[in-house]
Amino acid sequence: MSSRAASDETIKVTELVERARAVLRTNDVGLFVKPGTYQYPHQWNWDAALVALGLSTFDRARAEKEVRSLLKGQWKDGMLPHVVYHNGKSDYFPTPDFWQIERSPHAPPVSTSGIVQPPLLATCVRLMHEAACRQGTAADCEASLAFVREVYPALLRWHRWLHAARDPENTGLVCIIHPWESGNDNAARWVEPMIRVIPTRVPPYERRDFVHVKEDERPIRAEYERFIYLIDCFRQWGYDPETIYARSPFLVQDTFFNALVYRAHQDLVALARALGEPTGMIEDWMSALRYAFNHRLWDDEHGLYFAYDVRGRRLLKENGCATFIPLFAGLSNERQARRLVEEHLLNPEEYAPGEPGPTRYFVPTQAKNNFFYEPRRYWRGPVWIIVNWMVMEGLRRYGYDELAETIRQHSLELMQRSGFVEYYDPRDGTGCGATGFSWSAALALVMLQEEQG
Ligand code: GLC
Repeated sequence: MSSRAASDETIKVTELVERARAVLRTNDVGLFVKPGTYQYPHQWNWDAALVALGLSTFDRARAEKEVRSLLKGQWKDGMLPHVVYHNGKSDYFPTPDFWQIERSPHAPPVSTSGIVQPPLLATCVRLMHEAACRQGTAADCEASLAFVREVYPALLRWHRWLHAARDPENTGLVCIIHPWESGNDNAARWVEPMIRVIPTRVPPYERRDFVHVKEDERPIRAEYERFIYLIDCFRQWGYDPETIYARSPFLVQDTFFNALVYRAHQDLVALARALGEPTGMIEDWMSALRYAFNHRLWDDEHGLYFAYDVRGRRLLKENGCATFIPLFAGLSNERQARRLVEEHLLNPEEYAPGEPGPTRYFVPTQAKNNFFYEPRRYWRGPVWIIVNWMVMEGLRRYGYDELAETIRQHSLELMQRSGFVEYYDPRDGTGCGATGFSWSAALALVMLQEEQG
């Protein structure tokens, strides 16, 4: 199969739209949409942003409610946590009380986790607003602008927090303190920095993530203990950003996360302009980030971006899908983009369909020739629709329209064949992980909108 081969299946647009909407309706518990029907019963940060974007394709009022609900979890200092537990305890671990967020003076009244996730909210709010003005009446556009005015201050506080709390030394790049903050929870680039995290005391905990998903698709125990140990450190330090920055054994300037920060800043600038708000501070964050990103995270020898391990003082040289996310943010120059696409994305030894593997679908989350590649393990190889969407949009930004279209087709074909699941085996498209997965459904709606004009 050629690496550019398009899908061999006809996408049944109306049927797929109906099925995708049904997933979002099934997972809707009123105040928020669960990321998965069984596995993820609370509101997750970047899932909610994508869910809102998906909902906005057919119910704008409901989409706006999703954003408001997420913002209820915002901490007093601006942090937007990775999970909001609106509905209390469930069979999901970590439970709300495990986080002990009341140890922080900034904790909100609602239960939340104490770490973050990639900031995708400003991006989705901008896309929602632009679609409302492009497709709706003048009144729709006005109403959408009123919504933007309502949420803008919270978005700005969130972005400001990222730099203040996670880049106190003004390097330009924002740090993450836990692999879960990257959203790519189990990616190979966390193996090395996690080996240095020695869990000297692991508080009692009960894993619940095998209840709905097979064990061989989930992280192994030694890794899970380290995840828990880090949380235990943060709660003992009262979630104080200064202490965490000074002492966290895990401190990384991640490619994926920082690319999304940069992209979100661009989108925040667009929202600020629509409102007539000043943009200078956001643009300052952007120029510092752009400079540091390309100086510190670009490896010219390999033609790849790598995360920088602040504690280990070195690049984490694992070839994974995070390397393509700077395209989604417009952070790369033309030469970097060409190298990423021609040497890596189109290379069948790494990401393109074909031998070895062999694989059939774009875009494996770990390069096939990476030591840690496993086509069915969580973030170690399977195709995730969120990554495909970002790569697709990134390719369009750099004029690779045909390849972007192939990736869109592959994504739709996977969802049509195997349903809206969490991730897919790139060899044969088998659905893995959680079922009834909301952001897959949401992104199907976004990708299908193009067919519906
Ligand atoms: C998994 C993913 C994370 C996502 C969450 C809820 O933990 O790794 O990115 O937000 O599930 O869907």
